[in-house]
Amino acid sequence: METIEKMTDFFTSRVEGYDEHMLNTVEGCRDAYKYMATLVPDTAQSLLDLGCGTGLELDEIFKIHPTILVTGIDLTQAMLDKLRQKHPQKNMNLLCGSYFELPFGSNIFDCAVSFQTLHHFTHEKKTGLYRKLYDALKTGSIYIECDYMVESQEAEELYFRENERIRREMGLSDDEFYHYDTPCTITNQITMLKTAGFSNVKQVFREENTTILVAEK
Ligand SMILES: C[S@@+](CC[C@H](N)C(=O)[O-])C[C@H]1O[C@@H](n2cnc3c(N)ncnc32)[C@H](O)[C@@H]1O
Repeated sequence: METIEKMTDFFTSRVEGYDEHMLNTVEGCRDAYKYMATLVPDTAQSLLDLGCGTGLELDEIFKIHPTILVTGIDLTQAMLDKLRQKHPQKNMNLLCGSYFELPFGSNIFDCAVSFQTLHHFTHEKKTGLYRKLYDALKTGSIYIECDYMVESQEAEELYFRENERIRREMGLSDDEFYHYDTPCTITNQITMLKTAGFSNVKQVFREENTTILVAEK
């Protein structure tokens, strides 16, 4: 029987060597981390990072915005520990928990990002998260999402079907976080963001399956 790992176990056991893996093996990421940093507005003083992990996107963002105040949310404490080790002097409020459950506040962030974290969840869960995120952002600010996205609806459906099959075989309930990639199409991603209230949602980068979208509030 094919099995999948609990999300936190998956990332905890891979934290050593994680940065090298993302930079050297996941196609498009090295360039996308750098490119995302250039998209953060010069005026942004506060940034919300969903699924910040060890902060590869923050490594680049801090080069351009050294004093930005970061709120980083991640489910895996070991990833957050690594991030803190890399940037002990930075102003980061790191929260260990799920971005689906933790409150973000209302109208408080100048910018939000997520990088390679949301390709594990359903449309319904993501749309709910985007609504919460929309509320947390100030008017006139942007959300920048980089993720593993696919071109065809068939590909998306295949990943979701396989995930469901494995989860059913393992007897997992819908609310348990397990690691399995379920990338969505770019078109569906844009629709979800618009449904949550974002406007002017645009694809601005794509290298292999690594795609960046920018959405405005
Ligand atoms: C592939 S890593 C990306 C980390 C970082 N953004 C980067 O690009 O290097 C995905 C991260 O998302 C986190 N994650 C997954 N599901 C989450 C959830 N529901 N809430 C918060 N973090 C989550 C994992 O713990 C992991 O650190």
